[in-house]
Amino acid sequence: MVASQVGASILAEGGNAIDAAVATGFALAVTLPQAGNLGGGGFMLIYLADENRTVAIDYREMAPSAATKDMFLNAQGEVDAGKARFSIQSSGVPGTVAGLVHVQEKYGNLSLKKVMAPAIKLARSGIRVTVALSESLSSHRRLLQSNAGAKQYFFKKDGADYAVGDVLKQRDLAASLKRISAQGAEGFYQGKTAELFLAQMERTGGLITQADLDNYAVVERSPICGDYRDHRVCAMPPPSSGGIHLVQMLNILEGWDLKGLGHNSADYIHRLVESMRRAYADRSQYLGDADFFPVPVETLINKDYGRVLRDKIDLDHASRSADIGPGLKRTPESTETTHFSVWDDWGNVVSNTYTLNFSYGSGIAVMGSGFLLNNEMDDFSARPGSPNGFGLVGGVANSIEAGKRPLSSMTPTIVFDPQGKPLLVTGSPGGSTIITVVLQLILNVLEFDMGIAEASAASRIHHQWLPDDVYYESGISPDTLRKLREMGHLVSDGAAVLGSTQSIQSNGKGVLFGATDSRAHGAGVAIQP
Ligand code: DON
Repeated sequence: MVASQVGASILAEGGNAIDAAVATGFALAVTLPQAGNLGGGGFMLIYLADENRTVAIDYREMAPSAATKDMFLNAQGEVDAGKARFSIQSSGVPGTVAGLVHVQEKYGNLSLKKVMAPAIKLARSGIRVTVALSESLSSHRRLLQSNAGAKQYFFKKDGADYAVGDVLKQRDLAASLKRISAQGAEGFYQGKTAELFLAQMERTGGLITQADLDNYAVVERSPICGDYRDHRVCAMPPPSSGGIHLVQMLNILEGWDLKGLGHNSADYIHRLVESMRRAYADRSQYLGDADFFPVPVETLINKDYGRVLRDKIDLDHASRSADIGPGLKRTPESTETTHFSVWDDWGNVVSNTYTLNFSYGSGIAVMGSGFLLNNEMDDFSARPGSPNGFGLVGGVANSIEAGKRPLSSMTPTIVFDPQGKPLLVTGSPGGSTIITVVLQLILNVLEFDMGIAEASAASRIHHQWLPDDVYYESGISPDTLRKLREMGHLVSDGAAVLGSTQSIQSNGKGVLFGATDSRAHGAGVAIQP
């Protein structure tokens, strides 16, 4: 909530949505250390009202030049999950600072100094520890205590947990932020911060070099857009899989009268699940960084391909993922990413999702700099068919290569009305569940005419091809679950919590409705004062 208020205050000072987004992004690096970050990466979708154009900003981490395909395999050729997720080598070259500085300089109205000032102040003067932060830090105590930097930054001097209401000051982080605000991206990728970063690499066997930091590049890409009935939906292209599979699932689903089936009826959920199953099966084979692998984007988002997939779906019986691909069992872990959406008076819209991957990333902080390193290298497929931390499998398309970006599910999205004006901006954390969560939020609004608050709160389901389980939230009724089981679906034992959307919806007449997800605590809607 504090970071949202920072964004709103920047709007009040004459900043546009991009300024506010950058201010919020840097503020979250202070207030939400489990996901907000300097040492991670992400994606930002920007609608520029003046130009009536949407641009997709890729600031995803890159594999260092010394990274190799088999770097996370042990002597037996198996994936060493600890190394892939919690070692210094699990970190890709961070993109967040380059990304935020890039958009601010190119599309912002204010100075970088101005938009970064609130974050620096929060780090230096301290933040009040909320219930959410105190619970999060203490539940990750083991991970964070095992690293000298993280231990110093996130626990009291005597090792005790921060309690609710305590003030957490982050002086090293404030100094790192200050260097960025004074020197731009160079204040992170070169100079003192880079020295600290490289020293950490050297001390603990990391692969990232100064050349890797120098070579980090933000890429402006064209968004993936598709039409769902008379609305246009735009989201991230590779190296995120989000846009492609969102559009692909919408293409499949468009052929049915979903509204007539009833929201969250068994027949509706059956169609969702079968569409998700097929999209995620394709993801495992065809999706990766398109700069390295020929991702068949046009085919995957083609309406005819959607029809072909739809025609194969049995409307009365569940299919088996094993019949579509190889079968594996694994439960997705619950970890942290963060999304925010911004909309300004000029009509510019920003949808941003960024992350360290897991909560607190690798758990390793760069000593002296105050920030944590991501463990995004685990989003690569360390070995064909071996699941990553989200149970996702992949193959050569997403194998590790120097300079490549790991495949993501992050799906910052903007939906346009039939006149081409932004109608809805949304996105979510949730690893592999992000794409299906965003899909359901969009359908709730476009198909079931829900307001954004109801659309955000409505119970969700998730399927990701492998494991062949339907995940569901507690609001899905037992008789619906029974019917799904009767159709042959493998419904998971017990309810899950799926995603946490942060959305804004326009009524088309200049009134905006913000909705934070009641599943998350600590998030909030802030309005320009
Ligand atoms: O890029 C991805 O798909 C993952 N690294 C996102 C991780 C995530 O959402 C964790 N959060 N809940």
